[in-house]
Order: sequence, then structure tokens, then C-alpha cells
Amino acid sequence: MYSDFQHFLRELDAAGELKRISHPLSPKLEITEVADRCMKMPGGGPALLIENPVGYDIPVAINCFGSRKRMSMALGVGDVDEIANEIQALLQPEVPASISAKIKKLLELGRFAKAAPKKVSSGICQEVVMQGSEVDLTQLPVLTCWPEDGGPFITLPMVFTHDPNTGKRNVGMYRIQIYDKNTTGMHWQMHKVGAEHMRVAAEKKKNIEACIVLGGHPAYTFSAIAPLPPGIDEMLFAGILRRDAAKLVPAKTVDIDVPADAEIVIEGYVDPTESRIEGPFGDHTGYYSLADYFPVFHATCITMRSKPVYPATIVGIPPMEDAYMGQAVERIFLPLIRLTVPEIIDMHLPVDACFHNMAFVKIKKRYPGHAFKVMNAIWGLGQLMFTKFIFVFGDDVDIHDMRDVIFRIGANCDPMRDSLIVKGPIDQLDHASDLVGFGGKIGFDCTHKWPSEGFPREWPKLITMSDDVKRKVDGIWGELGIG
Ligand SMILES: Cc1cc2nc3c(=O)[nH]c(=O)nc-3n(C[C@H](O)[C@H](O)[C@H](O)COP(=O)(O)O)c2cc1C
Repeated sequence: MYSDFQHFLRELDAAGELKRISHPLSPKLEITEVADRCMKMPGGGPALLIENPVGYDIPVAINCFGSRKRMSMALGVGDVDEIANEIQALLQPEVPASISAKIKKLLELGRFAKAAPKKVSSGICQEVVMQGSEVDLTQLPVLTCWPEDGGPFITLPMVFTHDPNTGKRNVGMYRIQIYDKNTTGMHWQMHKVGAEHMRVAAEKKKNIEACIVLGGHPAYTFSAIAPLPPGIDEMLFAGILRRDAAKLVPAKTVDIDVPADAEIVIEGYVDPTESRIEGPFGDHTGYYSLADYFPVFHATCITMRSKPVYPATIVGIPPMEDAYMGQAVERIFLPLIRLTVPEIIDMHLPVDACFHNMAFVKIKKRYPGHAFKVMNAIWGLGQLMFTKFIFVFGDDVDIHDMRDVIFRIGANCDPMRDSLIVKGPIDQLDHASDLVGFGGKIGFDCTHKWPSEGFPREWPKLITMSDDVKRKVDGIWGELGIG
């Protein structure tokens, strides 16, 4: 397993997955344009190491997670499905009630005993320490991604905070807009755990300390985006994924432990009473998310390796690098979702709908109204609450085949009868709703309808050719000269 992020880069290089770019490229828009062209290539294009970002002496790594192979390499497996299958097998014997209980169960299992994070006294992430007037965030090759962006944004950060009541750690990926040498935006959205930690701190009339971490073992980055229930430690989850404990070193100016193998760590705090305009930002939605008031982060210290690499990504019109991260989340979390909603056979969040906007769900229908039960369950399940459109299919549909999906929606749905419209929390980035973070969602029952559901007519049979005729034509196909 990788000792740090640069080790991961070397392995990508050895596997022919990394392209080193020595041509000078500006972090202002130019790196985006090159990376975007790679990300739009079939299969995700190569990872890039931009060795000479104009104006900086820190190389930029981008698109490191941007293919199924690289995402799997990041987690130390041949394919992300291996982890899903392992979790599925491990969860078979016992069925605890909640997702948290299930993840805790995973942690209790002997083979994961060494997954718990370990505290160490030093790490490469603190080879260089800059405090006070030495703190200068403008030294970092932070990308200005799109022409109308409000400024440069750190795009692949892991934000470490602790719940001021329980002390429990959270690590979430929230973009960071650079305002000046030592202040940034803190874009933790209202439904995310970092924002909740800040609200708890506000109740105590205290600042919330935070560390913005870049690099380290790639399993950390994945864990920061993973929709883990609050209270489940991302560093523990990363330990399970990488089959080794995360080594954490105390930060210099705040009471937070950070990965010893990180490339760069920015320590500081957020004052819950302070906010500032953040954005606009060319976002996952394919549109610019609108400028709005967000908390402000004050950097008290920067620590880094003596020769760091700056990890970055860009988001925008799909497909982007995050397509492969999201695909890994979809596969790895399916077994956990299935234990809570066992009738779900499979689930697919299509990349072009920016993931949580749309879900195709395949179920084994057992009782009247079953599809509606599944929709309600999904809207009540962690970050799946953001799903704006849910389509529930029977077990004879390939939900990964858009042709099959569209065919069944068109053929099996009566929009009046088979839709369920609800309102509730939606992604804070959604620009179609009237209100920020609150709007409508719709589910469609695309299963075959039953008389017990009030369907008054006979449900027709799907057309299929008989097996004997198929076999016969298989046998003579070559002779027909069709090709
Ligand atoms: C590249 C990337 C950027 C992201 N940026 C943000 C962001 O700026 N704000 C946010 O709240 N979530 C963002 N997310 C999603 C969160 O990281 C994700 O919802 C995560 O599960 C949140 O962790 P939490 O539940 O511990 O808060 C981003 C995800 C990715 C892959």
C-alpha cells in the first residue's frame, strides 16, 4: 500500500496511468482546459502531473482518481466491486438495524482490528512549518477553474473538524476559496457534518477549529467524500479501505490530528458569527453555483513536505473526475444500503444527471406499492435524501443500460398514477428549486402493475423469441452471410 500521495503517483506512473506535463501551464484556467479535455476522453483519460505551473514551484496533480482503474488503484484493489463484495460477504451473518450499527459491526471484525487510526509524533506533512506572518496561501498553485469563478479554489481538500460536544472527528471535502494570504471561504453546505460542528460551536459561543488537508493516502480523499453517517470516523473508514491504520500527527496550532503523510496542511479556525460572499464557482451541476454568504476560515499555520505536490480536481459539465469517485461510492455503499432496504437489488446514479439528481433502482417487487416504499426509504437515507428523481424498476431491467431504462419508463409508467411527488431537503447546490436546500422530488414506479394495486387491465407480456428458434438461428447465422 502507498506510503503517501507521491508514492501513489509513482505507482500510477509505473502503470502507465500518469502523464507528466513539463510544458508551463497557468493554474488560472489553462490547467482546467487541459484536464477537462482529458476527463472527457472515453474512460477518463490519464492522470496529469503538471510539473511547471506558471508562477509556482509546487507541481499540480489532477485527474488521479479519474478512471475506474485509478479509482480502484487508489483503494488498493483490482476493481472497486471487490470492496463491495467483501463488505457484502462480511455483513451477511448478522443484520444490525442501522447503517451506523452496520459500519460499527464491520469495524469490530477481527481482520479490521488494525484499521483504527494511530497517533504518531512526527510526519512528513510537517517538514516545513509556517506560522504567523509566514502564512501565505497565495504560495500554493490553487486553480482558478472557470472564467466566471469568484477566485482561486482548493478543489480536493479534506476538512478535519471535531464535534465540540462529543469530540468526534469528521472529515469532509468542502471547496475552499482563497481570499488572501490567510483567509478563505469554508463551503460546508448546510446538510454536511462540518456545518453541524460549526453550529454546535456557535451554541457554545466558540470558534470551530479546522484543518484543511491535501494529499496523504488516496483512501483518505475517498473517505472524505464518502456519505458516512455522522459519528463514523472517516479515518477509521480509510483504515479499513487501505487495510492499515491512518497515522495521525498533532497539528501545530489547533487541537486536531492530521494525516502524517499529507502533502500540505492548513490549520486554522472558523468564527461562526462571520460570513462572507463565496463563489460563484463552476460546479458539479455543470453550471456556476451562485455567490452566497458562507463562513470564513482563518489560517493560523501552514505545514507541508519539503517538496510537496498539490492535489487538485475540477468539476463542471459531466463527465469529470468525480464521476469515478461517485461510481466507487455507488458500488461500495450498495451493500450497506441493501441491508437497510433489502428489496433493492441494484442502484445506479447516472453520471450525466450529476449523481444525486437521479437514481435508477432495481427491486424484487413483493407487495402492492412496494416501489413507493423504496422511494420513501431512499429519501430518508443519509445523503440519498438529495435524490430529485427516482425511477424504480422490476428485476427484469438492466438499470445500467440507458436504452432499457428509457424503454421501461416509457412503456410501464402512467405518470398520473405512478408518480409520487414530495418535498424536503435538497442539495444546496441545486439551482432549480425556489429555495436554497429545500424543494421538490419525484419518484416513478416503473414496475409491472398488479391487480392488487388497482390496475384494472391485463398486464401484457414482454416480447421474447423462443429459445429453440434462437438456437436454430445461432446455428445457421454464419451461413446467412449477414455478418
Ligand atoms: C470534488 C468534490 C467537491 C466537493 N465540494 C463540496 C463542497 O464544497 N461543499 C460540500 O458541502 N460538499 C462538497 N462535496 C461533497 C461532500 O464532500 C460529501 O457530501 C461528503 O460526504 C460530505 O462529508 P460529511 O458528510 O462528513 O459532511 C464535494 C465532493 C467532491 C467529490
